[in-house]
Amino acid sequence: MSWQADPAPQEHFQLGVWWWRDGDDVVLWHGITGRHVRLHHQSLSMLLAQPDAPRLTGLRQRLDRHYLLAGSPRPPWPDLIPTRSRLVLTLPDEASLWLPVPGFRGPGGHGYRTFRLGPRAHKIWTCINDSRTIAQIADRAGLTLLDVQALCAALTGPELQALQLRDTPPRSRDPGLERLVDLPRPANSRPEHLHGPTGETTLTWYHLHEITDGQTHFDDRETTVAHALAPPHPALRNRPYGAALGEALRRAGALTDHTPVVEVGCGTGELARDLRAAGPTGPYVRVDLSPELLRTQARTASTTHGVLADGLALPFADRSVPLLLSNEVIADMSSVPVDPSEPAEGAPTEALALAERLGLTLPDVPHLVNVGAWRFIQEIARVLAPGGQAWISEFGTLDGLPAEATQLDHPEVAIQFSQLAQVAHACGLLARIAPLAETLGADLTAQHLARSSWHAVRALARSRDHHLQARAYTPATLAEALPFKVEGLRWVPLADEGPGPLITRFYALWMERPAD
Ligand SMILES: C[S@@+](CC[C@H](N)C(=O)[O-])C[C@H]1O[C@@H](n2cnc3c(N)ncnc32)[C@H](O)[C@@H]1O
Repeated sequence: MSWQADPAPQEHFQLGVWWWRDGDDVVLWHGITGRHVRLHHQSLSMLLAQPDAPRLTGLRQRLDRHYLLAGSPRPPWPDLIPTRSRLVLTLPDEASLWLPVPGFRGPGGHGYRTFRLGPRAHKIWTCINDSRTIAQIADRAGLTLLDVQALCAALTGPELQALQLRDTPPRSRDPGLERLVDLPRPANSRPEHLHGPTGETTLTWYHLHEITDGQTHFDDRETTVAHALAPPHPALRNRPYGAALGEALRRAGALTDHTPVVEVGCGTGELARDLRAAGPTGPYVRVDLSPELLRTQARTASTTHGVLADGLALPFADRSVPLLLSNEVIADMSSVPVDPSEPAEGAPTEALALAERLGLTLPDVPHLVNVGAWRFIQEIARVLAPGGQAWISEFGTLDGLPAEATQLDHPEVAIQFSQLAQVAHACGLLARIAPLAETLGADLTAQHLARSSWHAVRALARSRDHHLQARAYTPATLAEALPFKVEGLRWVPLADEGPGPLITRFYALWMERPAD
């Protein structure tokens, strides 16, 4: 897509209207109100060729409502309401704004820039409250209408989408104020070695060699729910994630003070540390594919023992493990594209054969299958002691087809949990699925920093060489972590997107090997 916005021809459009092509669409942008309309380029061509055609009345009215066409009514300037984009922060100590820049992508998302406010602009900005009109703001600030309009005009263009001038106040969660227009979500490029010859995901090399900083990996490259909620959080009754999970495991009779625990894929080791801090003192073995993360875990959870191994080939005897945990790991295990209508070879053939052995019926359409996770369940079934339990969590759905997450720098694939439970049954285990939030007793109404504000403060911190951890901040914990003042942050319930992945997209599979 091109970010070359051009002034729209004045014989058709009002002064100050810009336009640009985005695929088959054209975006018409009112550069002074900051409002826009997107339409198919053929619809626009028809409208320009036959402006009075009756079948185009609806489209014409829509463009008129946005004051775009040459013959549209003029915007009622003094009565318009300047409305702030929810993506903009104010830096009060510098009298400046911190705002995202459309069309420019930096590491971890789009770029941000500082917009300095002179004394008059600062006064105007502080009077903007999403309900005062331009006339009321001018009155309150003791400035002229022109002063207010000039600042607004500087902040409403396609390149600086900080304000919109609206006819009516916005709804409290107006999505039009929470995103940049036409900014494609940054999809990371995928190096070839993260997929095998038949398209299967293969992350062994990534884990062995490409995780190079265990301290910052889960802040900068992939954030997990457990990482975001590792510091005590009101959503978990001020407990860390590991402590809340420990309590759930005790309630389920899976964990006592002396139960030996195996955890597969331990990240920074915070879950291990906090689960143990809440009571259990039995041996705790961490299994991980990443040497760097094993070092980090050893520092974080110093009373636990680490082993470099693959969860698909656990270094334990058959029927020997009383409790196995694995938090947000199985989406990393290989998923394989299969097309039941095509002759297959390599990984897809093996996947289809395994599905048949496990008695799974696959849908008759091309799709990804979570073969790595199935094999992990087989391995869990091998090592679980009679009466032992296993608990594994991941993002996914109950019945939806697995899809690859595109926002990470490596391909993780959502898990189809109902199928995973069938695999567990086929391996002789009792199995049940629970939403992760339910397992942890999470209060989904507790507040945390909204995703858009997180992106903004993270970019701000980076611009000042300050490392900000990716946590589900509350106003108090962010104030402690951020050594500079920002205003305009948004706080949303845990059921809405924050710094970590959305907890409501996660499930847990509880498994038990019946006692002999
Ligand atoms: C997404 S991280 C989750 C980390 C941590 N459990 C959390 O929730 O924050 C995946 C972890 O599993 C490890 N891992 C991935 N694949 C693995 C495998 N096949 N065997 C063992 N560990 C694996 C990674 O090195 C990493 O520690």
